[in-house]
Amino acid sequence: MSYKASRRNRNDCMRWISDAVRNQGRIGALRHYLTATLDFLRDLTPERRRARYGDIDYDFDHGVDTTWANVSLRTRLRELAAGAQYQASEPGLFHDIIRALPVPPDGFSFIDLGSGKGRTLLMASDYPFRKIIGVELLDELHQIARKNIASYQSEQQKCFDIESFFEDARDFKFPADPLVLYLFNPFPDYVLRTVLRTLADSFRSAPAREIYVIYHNLVHEDTFRAQSWLREVHRTHQFAIYRAMNPETPA
Ligand SMILES: C[S@@+](CC[C@H](N)C(=O)[O-])C[C@H]1O[C@@H](n2cnc3c(N)ncnc32)[C@H](O)[C@@H]1O
Repeated sequence: MSYKASRRNRNDCMRWISDAVRNQGRIGALRHYLTATLDFLRDLTPERRRARYGDIDYDFDHGVDTTWANVSLRTRLRELAAGAQYQASEPGLFHDIIRALPVPPDGFSFIDLGSGKGRTLLMASDYPFRKIIGVELLDELHQIARKNIASYQSEQQKCFDIESFFEDARDFKFPADPLVLYLFNPFPDYVLRTVLRTLADSFRSAPAREIYVIYHNLVHEDTFRAQSWLREVHRTHQFAIYRAMNPETPA
């Protein structure tokens, strides 16, 4: 790695850590990093490393690299600083989730914030979405996602307009399209709140379109429940789907 790239990585990590301290306070951030470090160490044990290879079938079937098993130690350390860990969505569950949407995908743009190596972008492309967008904080995962998008082959593929962006989800500008937003518990709560504020602003600026938000792995479910403009339309123990609504509209 070049000196410039390594300095940039260090700066990113410092920014993420000071962000965590600013938003969670010193004690909150310390607690968060202690828990994350314990998870990180547990992930290094032989049993956990073996278990991680359990998600590799998708890659064999499609000739891509989306598994979390081979994520480098350096990337895992950067994930730790960012407060988020890459793990790809399980294909069977992902298809159940898309089938649970109360509308057909046609005409909707699918957006995955925290898209990692892009497995959901590939899986979503087997549905007739109008456009598919991924947004990923870690450049190394985004670069792999771009390669995966270029090499993906599936007889089922129906959407070919797929892009991955290297960006903090908090800076992402939502397009004024009908949207299906997918979140596989990608961020700490303070990032999630900022993203939902941006989405609410986008909805207010073009309220005639439909927006659905899928939240997979319900860790910060209370944050969704606190949004008066989001109405839960489907829920299981693994995921929930919300629809953006004018809060005045009767249920
Ligand atoms: C649990 S993984 C989900 C990956 C993918 N969405 C999937 O379902 O297969 C969460 C991803 O969110 C990314 N992430 C964390 N914070 C982010 C942020 N602020 N902006 C963009 N991506 C972020 C992490 O690097 C990680 O790749």
